[in-house]
Amino acid sequence: MKKVRFGLVGYGLFGAHHARAIMNSQNAELIAIAAKSQASQQAARSQCPSAEVYSNYRELVQRGDIEVVDIVVPNHLHSEVALMALNAGCNVLLEKPMATSIEQCNAIMSAVNASGKLLAINHELRLSTLWKGVKGLIDQGVIGHPQHALVELSRFPYRLGSDGWRWDITRVGNWILEEPIHFFDLARWYLSPCGNPISVYARANSRHPDCPELRDNFSAVVNFADGGYAVVSQTLAAFEHHVAAKVTGTLGTIWAQWSAPDARSDKPAFSLRYGLANAIHTAENLLPAGELVELAEQIETVARCVQNQSAPPCTANDGYWSAAMCLAAQNSVESNSIISLNEFTRAVSA
Ligand SMILES: NC(=O)c1ccc[n+]([C@@H]2O[C@H](COP(=O)([O-])OP(=O)(O)OC[C@H]3O[C@@H](n4cnc5c(N)ncnc54)[C@H](OP(=O)(O)O)[C@@H]3O)[C@@H](O)[C@H]2O)c1
Repeated sequence: MKKVRFGLVGYGLFGAHHARAIMNSQNAELIAIAAKSQASQQAARSQCPSAEVYSNYRELVQRGDIEVVDIVVPNHLHSEVALMALNAGCNVLLEKPMATSIEQCNAIMSAVNASGKLLAINHELRLSTLWKGVKGLIDQGVIGHPQHALVELSRFPYRLGSDGWRWDITRVGNWILEEPIHFFDLARWYLSPCGNPISVYARANSRHPDCPELRDNFSAVVNFADGGYAVVSQTLAAFEHHVAAKVTGTLGTIWAQWSAPDARSDKPAFSLRYGLANAIHTAENLLPAGELVELAEQIETVARCVQNQSAPPCTANDGYWSAAMCLAAQNSVESNSIISLNEFTRAVSA
């Protein structure tokens, strides 16, 4: 089948990884890259010689021959680039978060519906042998009906990002939208038998007196329709990169963990076990898991979905939910109150 034509917007740290994944793909080809500074344009030209490099992403979108616009720019730019791509009739692979406000998320959802185009959110953990393995065990019924999920991250502080955007509240949105958003997505995916998330309560604090709105420690409780609940927790004042998910149901617990010096490491330690009391099972021969393995899988999968006109592993609706849970959690931290997700999304979009 003909390869799907990708145009990449953003050639920073993760954009360069997207470019490599597209160039190594069986189903996708890298046609064009839009990069902002001369340094990143130069890097894109030398590392991706077959791609045309633009300084303005509008020119890339307006070429008219790009099938998937892959958006890997700072969070505050997600909605403007996604809207332009969708309105130009392109499919979109959009880095998380969908956007930094509910209003922007609503505008993206309207454009997806009006265009009929595919929009996939890069919650790449859904493609992981490990985190997808947890979902598979839940679906097999090994823990009965799920009732509780704990998804926890402990890691070194965030890097600044190009021009310091990740430490600028006006451009990052908030730090819940950076990493915890993946874990809100996993929690909702794992607890889908519990119905929709209905409310969130969150606490957070900062170790930066100069920018207290950037909060290193964060924990949220998300309540689901049938009484199930999830705890999502993060600390950024730690070392290395350690993620754990524990999902408990009426018949036992699934416990997955992943540890490495950083999320892109190719030498992680990870395990997947489940059981109840002394009946403990270990998943053997797990295939490699890690951000770059999953990114490569995401690119292949999105290309195949465009070829087959099928739904991606993380749809626009899923990305809307994960962004909405994070934005409601931020609202909860600021108001110190329980936020109803229904009311939050309705009030903001009214
Ligand atoms: N799914 C995941 O696990 C994951 C992992 C990492 C990052 N991300 C997401 O990916 C996005 C990028 O993160 P990053 O870590 O790659 O950040 P980064 O290293 O700071 O790179 C951002 C890039 O965007 C470029 N840029 C800014 N405005 C632009 C514009 N108008 N047109 C074209 N390029 C523009 C910057 O260009 P210059 O350098 O030329 O200024 C920079 O190269 C963020 O949304 C982040 O949340 C997701």
